[in-house]
Amino acid sequence: MKELSIQACVANVIEQAQGVVSLELHRPDNTPLPPFSPGAHIDVHLPNGLIRQYSLYNSDYDGERYKIAVLLEPQGRGGSKAVHDMIRAGDTVEISGPRNHFPLVEADHSILLAGGIGITPIYCMAQALSRKAKSFELHYCCRSASKAAFVNDIKESDLTDFSQFYFDDDQTDPVFDIESILLQSPNNSHLYVCGPKGYIDYVINAATKLGWPKDRIHFEFFSAPGHAATDEGNEFYLQLARSEKHYFVPKNKTALQVLLENGHDIPVSCEQGVCGSCATKVLAGEPEHNDVFLTDSERASNAVFTPCCSRSLSPELVLDL
Ligand code: FES
Repeated sequence: MKELSIQACVANVIEQAQGVVSLELHRPDNTPLPPFSPGAHIDVHLPNGLIRQYSLYNSDYDGERYKIAVLLEPQGRGGSKAVHDMIRAGDTVEISGPRNHFPLVEADHSILLAGGIGITPIYCMAQALSRKAKSFELHYCCRSASKAAFVNDIKESDLTDFSQFYFDDDQTDPVFDIESILLQSPNNSHLYVCGPKGYIDYVINAATKLGWPKDRIHFEFFSAPGHAATDEGNEFYLQLARSEKHYFVPKNKTALQVLLENGHDIPVSCEQGVCGSCATKVLAGEPEHNDVFLTDSERASNAVFTPCCSRSLSPELVLDL
């Protein structure tokens, strides 16, 4: 099915915190955008040619606008820098319709945990739960209050009574004690966490240690933790079954780069193992899955892999291309 493409106007660009800007997007004629649910993200086609995924942070009740917030990552691969340096109010950007790999599920109580810019989908969830008068609590961790987006919005809204902030540079804030948060939560609570990989790992490990089942732990990474191509990486071959081609993938290239260089038309978006756009059928061989998109059972089946970041544990992968 062809991906929905929308030409969106940038209504405004606002500095939400140090290094964080928000963009408000709408259709040129202000007609409603496709609806979304909390946890959804959109693809944004950036002026430098990159495509990046950003979570929607506004309430899903708001039909005419999408709002995203982007943290500047100077050491990143250029996506956040393009947003900060190249997009201005009044510009038009191509975006996709919303997709959701991080949905809220019906629960008696939800624990929402945000690390840094991971607040974006979490803020959207909190607004939705509050509007529906559902039981939830929000815990927001950040190195500094000055770098944390939406703090005042949260404090000045109905969310404030259910929110706790943990800023490393504020001695008056409590220490973020995930174990006691989890131990004090009502039975059958669901946990949602978004933020840097270390933060997500910390939360998931604590929940797992306390015996939380996987189906009550929900998380979203911004990028896959594995390394797609490094000098320490493994080399392997790609055998393309349908086109009868054979390629070598050196350590310093991804399988995707090799396929694109040789003229194969692979859909690409995040290039970070997050979106699943490049997922390709594997007919034989054992992929080294470095993505965060595939489910555990898809991963175990080895029937598909994401060539933008995943590699091979076997000397060769046979692909259905
Ligand atoms: S392009 Fe997004 S997972 Fe490969």
